[in-house]
Amino acid sequence: MISESGVVREARPMLLVVAAAMIKGGRVLVQQRPEGTALAGLWEFPGGKIEPGETPEAALARELDEELGVTVDPAALVPLTFASAPLADRHLVLLLYRLDRWEGVPEARHASALAWADMAALRRLPMPPADLPFLEVLAPLLRGE
Ligand code: CDP
Repeated sequence: MISESGVVREARPMLLVVAAAMIKGGRVLVQQRPEGTALAGLWEFPGGKIEPGETPEAALARELDEELGVTVDPAALVPLTFASAPLADRHLVLLLYRLDRWEGVPEARHASALAWADMAALRRLPMPPADLPFLEVLAPLLRGE
């Protein structure tokens, strides 16, 4: 149960998820969640759950390999910010990293589509609630600041 102040008063396990803002030429990569998954049709920053025993950076490098077929040096992941949101039975904490270099061309291996979005395009895409606060953090980065 969430009070009007937004404070969660019911015990629920924390779900730790990592995501990447892969930036190239003033655009960032987003992927569309496929049918049959939670939040289907929404556009998100690629990533996924941290598995037991993994560092967040190792988890994100693994997810980007699985989801996009790109090779990432975990040391190239720059922590940017985080957001949190209640899910049905867990509390999501989403960690966002910036990534400027990787090997390979991203392919939609899990997503139904990929898009390189500039800031204007990003603002028009429907996104999961936890990804929305990231837009203001990304705005200066996509302007090259
Ligand atoms: O890939 P994996 O199965 O590890 O994780 P996922 O299903 O992609 O993400 C786990 C949960 O994190 C999803 O149910 C989404 O609620 C959330 N998520 C999100 O809100 N925004 C993202 N950019 C990535 C995941």
